[in-house]
Amino acid sequence: MTGRPLLAGGPTQAATRQLDGGPLLEVTDLVTHFRTPRGLVRSVDGVSFTLDRGKALGIVGESGSGKTVLSRSIMGLLPKLNTERSGSVLFEGREIVDLPLKERRRIWGAEMSMIFQDPMTSLNPVMRIGKQIGESLRLHLGLSRRAARETALRLLQDVRIPEPHKRLDQYAFELSGGMRQRVMIALAMACGPTLLFADEPTTALDVTVQAQILELIGLQRTERNMSVILVTHDLGVVAGHTDEIMVMYAGRLVEKAPTKVLFANMKMPYTEALLHSIPKIDDPSHTRLNVIPGRPPDLVNPPAGCSFSPRCSFAQDRCRQEAPPLITAEHPEHVYACWYPVGSPHHRARSAELAAAAEGLVARWREPARPTCAPTATRFCVSKTW
Ligand SMILES: Nc1ncnc2c1ncn2[C@@H]1O[C@H](COP(=O)(O)OP(=O)(O)OP(=O)(O)O)[C@@H](O)[C@H]1O
Ligand code: SF4
Ligand SMILES: [Mg+2]
Repeated sequence: MTGRPLLAGGPTQAATRQLDGGPLLEVTDLVTHFRTPRGLVRSVDGVSFTLDRGKALGIVGESGSGKTVLSRSIMGLLPKLNTERSGSVLFEGREIVDLPLKERRRIWGAEMSMIFQDPMTSLNPVMRIGKQIGESLRLHLGLSRRAARETALRLLQDVRIPEPHKRLDQYAFELSGGMRQRVMIALAMACGPTLLFADEPTTALDVTVQAQILELIGLQRTERNMSVILVTHDLGVVAGHTDEIMVMYAGRLVEKAPTKVLFANMKMPYTEALLHSIPKIDDPSHTRLNVIPGRPPDLVNPPAGCSFSPRCSFAQDRCRQEAPPLITAEHPEHVYACWYPVGSPHHRARSAELAAAAEGLVARWREPARPTCAPTATRFCVSKTW
């Protein structure tokens, strides 16, 4: 990484905006539903949060929890047909929900941009890489063809693509997964956005490349004083790369806190279950993975009460009847939606019960089987030992 700004326009714009007060992004009660033949899919159901300039927010949740729809809804990237959207999105103090397409196009790339979940389908398969990056620069910054190509080359160097000159004239299918992801980052950074959405930027990459890509996004954020929204299903990914974490379940925000506070004192059993589902490096080999039982709810007919209740080991009758509101925890920036949070008397008692039951199961499993027949030379022993 060079340490110099990528483009003349981007960092300067970001620095000017930095002088303004107030959060960069203020989302209030954002709802995004889709009309389908099966009924209304409540993909995002009343989400509110703010993001300060230069900060990184992680949005975490299982597949289908609404992370991508939320990000696209904030950016105004969803088609209007069959979509019901309400609420408010203030970007640099300006309402951007329901901006006309022409206005939204002006924002995309230059002020907000997105590294999409799947680079193979997001990159144009029939346009050379250099031209794809150049088009965005020409459109938003009015660069000449030659200047756009030179800047595209610099961007590819900055995202550390090997042999950047060669890549300019290649197509997406000629690049490896890691290289395509780097091209997506170069494209997203091209016009110096103030806010970058990175939607699962490391899925399908091997662990070493994952770490490099996350480090790259972090470096770009610091160099450009850019805010980042890092979307992932993996709590481990956001742990070292964000200032705050927001956990989503069934289209709702269920817990949000500064990253250190969340890991020190998580409240939602769902967040805890997400954490336990990450394999640990020091686990012995063949250790069973902890999976969250059951499946995420149907967003057309979500369960009554807390939508996690059918899968939650701590659920009580109240959970199945009343949806818990967002409550502020001991830390003023920590909110969660749960009737019986981690550390509460019910949670402690139930955890002890579950641990005892698990201990019993393990003990039974370890009991040596009582042989009911003597060792035999025949191939099959028909008597049961279990
Ligand atoms: N255009 C659409 N029409 C109907 N339902 C949709 C549409 N787009 C998304 N959904 C539904 O909205 C829900 C949330 O989808 P979303 O893509 O935001 O999930 P996600 O959290 O990003 O999951 P993943 O981790 O798999 O990317 C899903 O149930 C999905 O099927
Ligand atoms: S409200 Fe009840 S069901 Fe929901 S997460 Fe908390 S304990 Fe579990
Ligand atoms: Mg997604």
